[in-house]
Amino acid sequence: MHLGSIELFSPSANVEECHAWIPTLCRNNQLTTLGFWDNIKRWKLAQQGLSSGKKRRVYDADERISAKLDGSIWLSWVIYMIFLFGMQLITLADWPSNSAGWKNFIAITIFSITAIFVTKAGNHGKKACNASSILLLGGILLQMLFLRLICLRVDASAWPQMYKLLLMPFTFAPIVHAVLLGRREATFSSVFVSICGCLLMPTDYVVTFMVISLVSGMTATVLTYKIRRRAELLRVGLIIGALSIVLSLAFGILLESPLLGASFWLRWVPVVCCFSIAYFTALFVSGFLPLLESAFSTTTNISWLELGDLNHPLLKRLQLNAPGTFHHSLVMASLAEAAAEAIGANAAMCRACAYFHDVGKLSKPDYFIENLSDDAENPHNALTPNMSALVIIAHVKDGVDLALKHKLNHRIIDAILEHHGDTLVYYFYRKAQEQRLAEEEKVGKGLGNTEDLPYVDEKNFRYPGPRPRSKETGILSLADAIESASRTIKKPTPVKIKNLVDEIVKARWSDGQLDDCPLTMSDLNKIKDSFAYTLRSMLHNRISYKTEDQSEKKSKSDSSLGREIPATDRIKP
Ligand SMILES: [Fe+2]
Ligand SMILES: [Fe+2]
Repeated sequence: MHLGSIELFSPSANVEECHAWIPTLCRNNQLTTLGFWDNIKRWKLAQQGLSSGKKRRVYDADERISAKLDGSIWLSWVIYMIFLFGMQLITLADWPSNSAGWKNFIAITIFSITAIFVTKAGNHGKKACNASSILLLGGILLQMLFLRLICLRVDASAWPQMYKLLLMPFTFAPIVHAVLLGRREATFSSVFVSICGCLLMPTDYVVTFMVISLVSGMTATVLTYKIRRRAELLRVGLIIGALSIVLSLAFGILLESPLLGASFWLRWVPVVCCFSIAYFTALFVSGFLPLLESAFSTTTNISWLELGDLNHPLLKRLQLNAPGTFHHSLVMASLAEAAAEAIGANAAMCRACAYFHDVGKLSKPDYFIENLSDDAENPHNALTPNMSALVIIAHVKDGVDLALKHKLNHRIIDAILEHHGDTLVYYFYRKAQEQRLAEEEKVGKGLGNTEDLPYVDEKNFRYPGPRPRSKETGILSLADAIESASRTIKKPTPVKIKNLVDEIVKARWSDGQLDDCPLTMSDLNKIKDSFAYTLRSMLHNRISYKTEDQSEKKSKSDSSLGREIPATDRIKP
């Protein structure tokens, strides 16, 4: 079984063999060469009834073009240079006629270099983070370009100078940055544009411009950085529009209109301009958000909420064909979302990813205990432990296959891949060991042959990984294990729930499953408290509030049963 062209299920396959092949094939770039022989082998296996003949889609996050470009240091320097020269071009276009040309040149150079340093500081230790650099610096550059074009248009016409302020889309960059990058970036772009934009304004309007730009930008940032629905963006547009009118009135811009003496309707033109520019800026950003998200491989809370729609065809299939898994995903989503909120991680992403994390179980729903009814025969009874582990482990790759087929967000695919890390399918590993011990006893008594002893290798019972690599996938992995294990508590008490959460988090941490994700010990404590609180709320009807002593005694006996191993890893045949 080769991973370059994976069969959906092959009994002859060896998990270890698969894991060994993946890096080798990718590293040597031999997938194309081996593809031909793979096809022939798969065809032969299909002829023998040992393969479905189908090909499973493979996902390689590092092979995505956006991922390669995102890590390029050369590209990041090109972006910085374009920003630096772009800013000079926009602000110094009228240098020959501007007496303060040199001063402006020095000021804009210092501001631009500061912006580049701030962008680099936002890379969080990574060498290059080009998508967010383009988004931050490009957004600022675009806003400055709008400013320059409006100034040129007003200067070229007979319009009063106050229209340089009334037609200005003050909130464009702050809204884009707040929704796509976060509050810190939006605040920075708001301050940056307010300061640099002053260089383009007539001297009389410098202070007015700076105050209106800062107040509008900051208000837009505060109102939009946690936005979850597209309609809320339009509401922000209305608020900023009203605020612009108030500010323009406060600074007397609307009152100094030369149209005051004109007809009643003409007097309203500046007010309409002021309001509609703010509103249409929000409308424009709202319309272009999906385009910006796909171009910069980023996902807003708005899109995460849309992705978490339970009417998605895959979730509908899950609801119908694997109701147990569907319910598990819903409960896990609540656990993960609350924990993410507690540590300031992306809660909307956690919810959406939790819904989809086990879609791979749709291939063989009956092989997963949560989908088995009490009177149904367990299909694992007819399989060897090796084979059972292979079926269980395959739900990760089947999930990736389905996610790719349905063009799901790449962060969801990461969550599918990472939610089990490289944990052990403990139940079947222990069963395989017990079978081998029984066979060894037979051999010792002379009733069996050494060559018939079953081969038990721990690697064959481990998920392929990778381990969780982000805070969100770390939370999902813990929530998954805790939700599954919580169903094994017969008479839940607050102490039992707390012990269960502690044991599972401790087991995952000591197994090294959280080594690659940036969760700190402080985060883990908050996550544990959140899990315990959410579980207590969910199991409230079942909770029996016993005395502390009774509960502690009982919980000790529970942990002696080996609860540190999540229930998902102890699927009983
Ligand atoms: Fe899973
Ligand atoms: Fe799960």
